[in-house]
Amino acid sequence: MKQDFNEYFVYKNGELYCENVSLKNLAEKYKTPVYVYSKKAILDKINQYKEAFSSYDTLICYAVKANPNLSILKIMSDNDIGCDIVSGGELYKAKKAGIPSNKIVYAGVGKTDFEIEYAIRENILSFNVESEMELDVINQIAKKLGKKARVSIRVNPDVNPKTHPYISTGMRKSKFGIDIDKALDVYQKASKLTNIEIVGIHCHIGSQIMEIEPYIEAIEKTAKLISKLKEKGINLEYFDIGGGLGIKYKPEDNPPSPKEFADAILPIVKGTNLKLIIEPGRSMVGEAGVLLTQVIFLKDKGDKHFVIVDTGMNDLVRPAMYNAYHHILPVVEKERKIIADIVGPICETGDFLALDREIDDVQRGDYLAVMSAGAYGSSMSSNYNLRPRAMEVLVDEDKVYVIRERETYDYLTIPELIEN
Ligand code: LLP
Repeated sequence: MKQDFNEYFVYKNGELYCENVSLKNLAEKYKTPVYVYSKKAILDKINQYKEAFSSYDTLICYAVKANPNLSILKIMSDNDIGCDIVSGGELYKAKKAGIPSNKIVYAGVGKTDFEIEYAIRENILSFNVESEMELDVINQIAKKLGKKARVSIRVNPDVNPKTHPYISTGMRKSKFGIDIDKALDVYQKASKLTNIEIVGIHCHIGSQIMEIEPYIEAIEKTAKLISKLKEKGINLEYFDIGGGLGIKYKPEDNPPSPKEFADAILPIVKGTNLKLIIEPGRSMVGEAGVLLTQVIFLKDKGDKHFVIVDTGMNDLVRPAMYNAYHHILPVVEKERKIIADIVGPICETGDFLALDREIDDVQRGDYLAVMSAGAYGSSMSSNYNLRPRAMEVLVDEDKVYVIRERETYDYLTIPELIEN
């Protein structure tokens, strides 16, 4: 008997279910690869966050980049969750899903003039500004539009979040934010700009953070700056502490819960008297999703075994890109185990889902579930090798809703023109 990975994907009589839906039946009906999300898992997480922060004026802004599917954004808007966006495309989708502008914050080091104008016109809650030049440009564009743009400065608190270097953002050497010791000057400058309204301060130190300590360090540093700003007569309304809380990828992982996170940081945040914004992405949807795939071939090279499946780095790039671990479970349990590389069909050696992994002795046609694929799975997928992107479905108890259709071959040609 397998230990259940979480309460939303459980074995019943040796077969893996999402809520009340058999993943074997689902895969047979819809074909693979398919992303499967548990609606209950997402709702439970939303409620855990809401409850954890209920003692303090907090706006939860879901980080759209984790999973921008419209149905998932609609779950957020139906539950009064705002959005953290990083592009015009994300703004468009957030609005389309019904997220009100006064719950949208916008980070990113490279906002284009077009995107800035779009966000000013939409009247978003705050630009999280990442450089002095960006501040000037936002001011100019707001002036041209005859409006005031609300901004927060994204400070870089120079804290090591102890996560993968590619997803550490709050260290001085990274491209993100403005050095915390320069921020006071930038705020003073911002306060003199005619079309800028300063509303807050922002920091985001990284992603898949498994310890609370780095948050405390970053929030304490930023809180000190907030006091200094107050002394200079610069009063803020919001303290946006970003996202980053880690999730369970390995069975033995034990990430902090929203409550543990809130209990540790709220005492410091309360001292600032500012409204709090948090930007969770991965922890809202990551464990709610799996990527279902089918075994196409088995291949042995001496004592090295390969399980070749119908999904790969085009659908889930995290293993190839960060050497990330995703737990892989058989949809129907087997007695015997093997050790194998689980690899995709893409013409790259880096196209693997798992290396030297002990898994059930699957055969051609069997299905596997790649766990914790709800965040940065579909959102980072591509058509590399001209593979249509995976379908996405949302499970709600015993119902299955298609929330992204499988791409067709026609779809692959739509933006292209033959002009010669
Ligand atoms: N706020 C800002 C400004 C961010 O840059 C991010 C993520 C978040 C919030 C949400 O962080 P989360 O709660 O999801 O950790 N592709 C990588 C993760 C990149 C995260 C980028 N920024 C991965 O697959 O691990």
